[in-house]
Amino acid sequence: MEEATNTESAQSRILIKGGKVVNDDQSFFADVYVEDGIIKQVGTNLVIPGGARTIDAKGKLIIPGGIDTHTHMQLPFMGTVAVDDFYHGTKAALAGGTTMIIDFVMPKKGESLVEAYEKWRGWADEKVCCDYSFHCAVSWWSDKVAEDMETLCKEKGVNSFKVFMAYKDVLMLEDAEMYQCFKKCKELRAIAMVHAENGHLIAEKTDEIVGAGIMGPEGHLMSRPEEVEAEATNRAIMLANQSNCPMYIVHVMSKSAADVVARARKQGKVVFGEPIAASLGTTGIHYFDRCWRHAAGHVLSPPLRPDTTTPEYLMDLLANNDLQLTGTDNCTFNADQKALGKDDFRRIPNGVNGVEDRMSVIWEKGVASGKMDPCRFVAVTSTTAAKVFNVYPKKGRIAVGSDADIVLWDASATRTISSKTHHHNCDFNIFEGMVCHGVAKVVISGGRVVLDEDGLHVTQGNGRFVSNPCNAEFVYGRINNRDELIKPVGVQREPYEGKVIDIANGA
Ligand code: URP
Ligand code: ZN
Ligand code: ZN
Ligand code: ZN
Repeated sequence: MEEATNTESAQSRILIKGGKVVNDDQSFFADVYVEDGIIKQVGTNLVIPGGARTIDAKGKLIIPGGIDTHTHMQLPFMGTVAVDDFYHGTKAALAGGTTMIIDFVMPKKGESLVEAYEKWRGWADEKVCCDYSFHCAVSWWSDKVAEDMETLCKEKGVNSFKVFMAYKDVLMLEDAEMYQCFKKCKELRAIAMVHAENGHLIAEKTDEIVGAGIMGPEGHLMSRPEEVEAEATNRAIMLANQSNCPMYIVHVMSKSAADVVARARKQGKVVFGEPIAASLGTTGIHYFDRCWRHAAGHVLSPPLRPDTTTPEYLMDLLANNDLQLTGTDNCTFNADQKALGKDDFRRIPNGVNGVEDRMSVIWEKGVASGKMDPCRFVAVTSTTAAKVFNVYPKKGRIAVGSDADIVLWDASATRTISSKTHHHNCDFNIFEGMVCHGVAKVVISGGRVVLDEDGLHVTQGNGRFVSNPCNAEFVYGRINNRDELIKPVGVQREPYEGKVIDIANGA
């Protein structure tokens, strides 16, 4: 790597030379020139102003920075707070080649969505090292919630709302409330997201498992069988379809839930499925580990599945566009926090890591395994997220005018994942010991080099909030047309003129 001739301009002017650009639809050899946080030129024989820092990309792929569609940094949850805050979480993201996260504002039942949003912005803005935006959870339903959704869409840059079919009495909505919420999403041209597990059944099963004397982490799995996820996935899609609202299933954890998504897409429904690094990279056999901390470290909802063919199956569907994009559900807790449930699995804080390792895990299990090509890798780790959440091609593409969120990816390098070397603020890693081909060697976030051969050098507060506008063409193109086509039309007929029985006397 050549040294800068002038520090000031070298910070804002970067020439990436000799690499292969990979977008979701094509790859080609080209140099990339960045100035003031924006990609200014892509091509060969570029004419570059003086004072630019040159980065040698020979043998590397130049890919759009990853977008993690699903994180929970510093989430207050189950009596404690996730240890990856917006600083540690985004630092870990950048270390692994992810340059944007979409986190969740999580209002409690009865809490104003707008006030919760302001609180989360306050937490995030001062700490984020990379760009970010927000989805908002809808954990209760009223006219006020609907009004708040409108404010968030029209004034605050939120275009997606997550409802929960699980966490009964805490976050869960009933079907009629979900239907109302989806109708509101459709009216706003926002995206409805669902945590799909049948919360009533989980409550019943949990009582049964506890009644059988099982209190260890395996009880978490036993109380949330795969069917319970698949049924809720189907119901969510049905409710969304009835309101002609696009549906986004978050954290697809099982083969049968993935099949439901794939089938709905074949039926022409506008549905997106998001497997996460955890479901693509590991399995639920860990719940049976004799080490309590190890088993508890894997507790999240829906749980990882003990069917060991699950990760490969989900990866096949992801490769073939039956599933579309990936997140992580990054929501980390240390041993002493997980230990809140040491005698009772119901109290183990739900959540695992992923934001740092998602890109490498997907390269290893998806590309190195021959299931997907580098273009598809870019689609599922970045571009499709940018399209769904309506920030494309500002994000998710290496092109003139796009944000300079760029990763130099070394497909032949390997690294071994470990909690000893990761950048999370957490003492556990669900991918411990996994050797991954595919390593982010240089990461540029908003035009700043944050990872290079000298290591990671991030600055908290350098990330910016990204507004996600409603009415993404990628999501709503078909929906808008269908709206016209599905308007209910009654049958024109002559009035009935015959006799009507008299029931006034209780006949
Ligand atoms: O276990 C999980 N998934 N924790 C985070 C909250 C959620 O349901 O996404
Ligand atoms: Zn969830
Ligand atoms: Zn262990
Ligand atoms: Zn989540």
